[in-house]
Amino acid sequence: TIIDDIFQIKVGNDKKSFSMLQKWPIIKSRPFKERNLPNKPLITGMRVIDLLFPITKGGTCGVPGGFGTGKTVIQQSLAKWSDADLIVYIGCGERGNEIADILKQFTEIIDPKTGRPLLDRIVLIANTSNMPVSAREASIFSGVTIAEYYRDMGYDVAVMADSTSRWAESLREISGLLEEMPAEEGYPAYLPSKLSSFYERAGNVKLLGKDEQGKEKFGSLTIIGSISPPAGDFSEPVTATTKNFVQGIWALDSNLAYSKHYPAINWLNSYSNYPEYITEWWQSKNFDWPEIDIDWSQCRKQVNEILSTDNELQYITQLIGEENLPEHQQLILFIAQLIKNGFLIQSAFDDIDNFTDAKKLLGIIKLILLVYKEGEELLKQGFLIDDIKELDTINGVLRINHAIKNEDFYLIENLKKTLLNEIETLKLLQGAFQRK
Ligand SMILES: Nc1ncnc2c1ncn2[C@@H]1O[C@H](COP(=O)(O)OP(=O)(O)OP(=O)(O)O)[C@@H](O)[C@H]1O
Ligand SMILES: [Mg+2]
Repeated sequence: TIIDDIFQIKVGNDKKSFSMLQKWPIIKSRPFKERNLPNKPLITGMRVIDLLFPITKGGTCGVPGGFGTGKTVIQQSLAKWSDADLIVYIGCGERGNEIADILKQFTEIIDPKTGRPLLDRIVLIANTSNMPVSAREASIFSGVTIAEYYRDMGYDVAVMADSTSRWAESLREISGLLEEMPAEEGYPAYLPSKLSSFYERAGNVKLLGKDEQGKEKFGSLTIIGSISPPAGDFSEPVTATTKNFVQGIWALDSNLAYSKHYPAINWLNSYSNYPEYITEWWQSKNFDWPEIDIDWSQCRKQVNEILSTDNELQYITQLIGEENLPEHQQLILFIAQLIKNGFLIQSAFDDIDNFTDAKKLLGIIKLILLVYKEGEELLKQGFLIDDIKELDTINGVLRINHAIKNEDFYLIENLKKTLLNEIETLKLLQGAFQRK
């Protein structure tokens, strides 16, 4: 069995025996040589994350969201599609059927990278709501420790914890039983230090030891924790404290979820501190489209500008109506609509839409920004906003997400040609019309 000795090593004059069983303290992090800056994104296949709020291999991120806003669906999609080598999924105090779901789905889905069931690369830690609270407290730290074990072999490991609020509640319950002095909302005063000792175990590190060729070894541990604030109130202690320890927040919004805008990641409240570290990586995925010569960072910048202008204009639009805005602002509203419907909204349950790779992501967003660029040009030449809205190709652009597969990138390029032809024809027709 696992406690039998399997090998011996000479240490000085003594011999030391080892079995397969290993015991580590789970609340202490495993040693490594040094921590490095993040330099690669963890590609999640979710467009809103990969473009606007990216996470890196070795990064940390919190996903706060009220009841039913999609935390579990996001965590499960990440477990399925993100490009980590190994996943440790901690179901902490959540429903048992969700864990059963994962077990079932992961045996059925085949990992495109290895051709084996996805379950082969996942460690599931099940601690459902009906299990004892003390086990729940341990589940989170057991999870990261197992993750560190694989990281030490040189893998990129990602830990998903759903949900860290249930874990914090178990701390509260235990602390109550121990009659410790409660702090904010009854949570123990050491809640922040517990949370930080969880998230600080993430990182992109140089490992102890060398590989077979005597070269340095590297590994990474990414942590994504969901948070369920009561009544969706983000100022409560667990959400507020987590924000101090993570580098990114994907804030889920119940209004978006009600209106079926999934993933319900609010683009105004969410943030990520990682973009500057991964610009270079994205540069290497870029392709040349002479008609719209922008890279990932510039796409991000433009999309952010359009979305924030859209937000400012919403209020005025309600007062005076969209049709009374200057044409240029109407164009921004229209492009923002395209970005929301054609890019940000993504179904986790559609066979094509559930995972968007880097190239398709850039293809879709560049095409939408090309509509913007050409639209501005058309307005300058005296065309009306409706001429732009009525372009036939727009429908095709909106359908790319679930109609064109990652590997059929040429179809996106064809669409671009059709769009440019359509605009050319429009200009010619109008020119002829004016000459009459
Ligand atoms: N990306 C998505 N695509 C399609 N539907 C989604 C998506 N995200 C969430 N949903 C829908 O929202 C429902 C609730 O999502 P989920 O169970 O993930 O919420 P939750 O935040 O984990 O809720 P709870 O607070 O109860 O744990 C899902 O059953 C699904 O129908
Ligand atoms: Mg859930």
